[in-house]
Amino acid sequence: MSDLTVRLPDGPFNATISVPGDKSLSHRALIFAAMARGDSRVEGAGPGADIESTRSVLRRLGVTIEGETVSSRGVGGWAEPSGVLDCGNSGTTLRLMAGALAARPFGSVLTGDASLRRRPMRRLVDPLAALGAEVVVTEPDGTPPIRIGGAASGLRGAAASVGLASAQVRSSFELAALQADGASVIDSPPGYRDHTERMLETLGLGRPVSATRFEILPGDVPAGTYLVPGDPSSAAFLWAMAAVRRGSEVTTPGVSLNPGRIGFLQILEAFGAEIHAEVTGAMLGDPVGSVTVRGRGLFAVDVSGSLATAALDELPLVGILGALAEGVTVVRDAAELSAKESDRIASTVALIRSLAGGAEGTGDGFAVVGTGFLEPGRVESMGDHRIAMAAAVAAARVEGTVEIGDAESAAVSWPGYFDVVEGLWSSQ
Ligand code: S3P
Repeated sequence: MSDLTVRLPDGPFNATISVPGDKSLSHRALIFAAMARGDSRVEGAGPGADIESTRSVLRRLGVTIEGETVSSRGVGGWAEPSGVLDCGNSGTTLRLMAGALAARPFGSVLTGDASLRRRPMRRLVDPLAALGAEVVVTEPDGTPPIRIGGAASGLRGAAASVGLASAQVRSSFELAALQADGASVIDSPPGYRDHTERMLETLGLGRPVSATRFEILPGDVPAGTYLVPGDPSSAAFLWAMAAVRRGSEVTTPGVSLNPGRIGFLQILEAFGAEIHAEVTGAMLGDPVGSVTVRGRGLFAVDVSGSLATAALDELPLVGILGALAEGVTVVRDAAELSAKESDRIASTVALIRSLAGGAEGTGDGFAVVGTGFLEPGRVESMGDHRIAMAAAVAAARVEGTVEIGDAESAAVSWPGYFDVVEGLWSSQ
């Protein structure tokens, strides 16, 4: 549990930074490659511990992963794992693998670290059960471990409607439905990231039926090459850093611009930052491009509805920007925040308060009083990578030092993040 003391240089910075490969897409590319029969390539996957969790679970099923090459006998040839599958800190690994494993004739038990063992899994039960999959959640509060698979007679095509705009639940259903005996449909409220659906459509294994309904057409995933773009959720920390340091500018080339991922750019613009986003290509079905953010004055914002969902992972940053803006910033419709790697309503409020800002949690978000400044202090990351990383953004406006407890949790998504932050001023 190492602490880190951050004191950032004075004055504006101007930098161009290539961020790590997208975490959501890296998980999916590895799982798709492992479901295919033969050799596939996953190039540019994220370096974080979460991606290693997916690799290690796949290896336990008999998939060979050497460097960027994934070799598999196909999902039908996955081996029964001996013992429990440890998904580490990664909810995406656990929920997506639950779906991918749901049609196997053997049962698998999935669990994770102390943080993941506090996260809700009952949301998987109904959608997967609609396909005939067995999902057993034994903990009374619906947390891991969960037992999945052992579906003796295979899965059947089905329609499911889920009340939560969760990409992980939709993807879990979709990976199971791919292995059913007929077409399936999933529906949910909007705002979720649709990476899995774009990948399935590209492979001819699914198609959108309406804005939120997606049909899955069962079939074999072919072996192939997956090129992973940069992670907008990692870039968001650098965008926020430029936004809070007036006169600063950062450019992040080659990031995914999937609409379900860049709600934060809309919010940043509403705060008053200057944004330029340019689509330069497409990868894994996502538009990909370069984003430049320039810091100007900051004015309070209101975030709610599907925008809150499309910026969910970035809402701790919204809290920090709110503390540094003029006016009261309010985030609503984000109850899901409390079911992340930490209770991010509580951990965001605590972060702001520990640096002498004014913030209060509400049932479904938080309100922050913008005083325009934060003071030196100590932030507890709560073992949550995004809280540890957000603390460095706050540090960009603190005159003095910010101490970050358990800062190494940043390695879940971006090992080396703090070095990049400290280097921003020298890349001018
Ligand atoms: C993810 C989906 C989101 C997001 C998480 C990654 C994914 O979670 O918060 O960081 O890769 O599918 P939910 O599906 O729970 O909203």
